[in-house]
Amino acid sequence: MTNVLVTGSSRGIGRALAQSLAERGARVVGHASRSTDSATIGADFRDPLAPQMLWQEALAAHDGQIDVLINNAGLFAPSPISDSDIGWMDAWEDTLRINLTAAAQLSRFAVLHWQETGRAGRIVHIASRAGHRGDSPAHWHYAAAKGGMLAMHKTIARAYASEGILSFAVAPGFTDTSMAGDYLESRGGPALLADIPLGRVAEPEEIAAIATFCALDAPASMTGAVIDANGASYVR
Ligand SMILES: NC(=O)c1ccc[n+]([C@@H]2O[C@H](COP(=O)([O-])OP(=O)(O)OC[C@H]3O[C@@H](n4cnc5c(N)ncnc54)[C@H](OP(=O)(O)O)[C@@H]3O)[C@@H](O)[C@H]2O)c1
Repeated sequence: MTNVLVTGSSRGIGRALAQSLAERGARVVGHASRSTDSATIGADFRDPLAPQMLWQEALAAHDGQIDVLINNAGLFAPSPISDSDIGWMDAWEDTLRINLTAAAQLSRFAVLHWQETGRAGRIVHIASRAGHRGDSPAHWHYAAAKGGMLAMHKTIARAYASEGILSFAVAPGFTDTSMAGDYLESRGGPALLADIPLGRVAEPEEIAAIATFCALDAPASMTGAVIDANGASYVR
């Protein structure tokens, strides 16, 4: 049985991913900013201590052994440069802490756990097309956090592959969740789809299928890979 911790599993991609993993027989502990049910641990990543508490609780729920960590939780909140100085900086602090630092803290706990137990492990990071391409003028922080996540992922992959600790990243473009919904509406809705050769945004289940493959099936030689899922809107 594979024990998995999925962050941000209350909605969107994380929820689809938790379902997809459970259907494959994995034992999943979920997470959200607040606990909603007995299978979901509440930890608000705005609090710097929250990732540590989450890791400890998830480890206890999984009887002391986690095999896969999925860093999925994220915030996509606009911060135009016309905001007040303090407002703009606050938005940076929140976005970097929730989207990058929390994922780094959890990844560190995971690597230490696998080193201490001598076990293999996998981390899957849900990054973004923005980490390669950049984002809107109101989302410098989001793009920077996702670019940072990709660099961190590659570092982890290179550092620990010899110990059986593997790292994979998925870089979705627009995906049909509440996160993208408001944004698509604010940027002209369907007109934005003209930028996507596939003609539609991704479904959460598509991103979940890729992440499930990385978590359970991907060959070890794939460690360090970043898998794009953006309808060919940004082909590298
Ligand atoms: N949707 C897209 O177009 C898209 C594109 C590229 C990449 N992504 C990435 O994919 C991941 C999932 O996105 P999504 O669209 O599924 O998002 P979503 O529907 O908005 O769900 C976000 C998840 O993150 C959790 N979260 C948000 N703020 C948090 C905080 N302060 N502390 C702890 N957890 C927090 C939420 O928990 P609560 O329910 O408690 O708020 C929720 O479970 C994110 O990392 C996102 O950046 C999404």
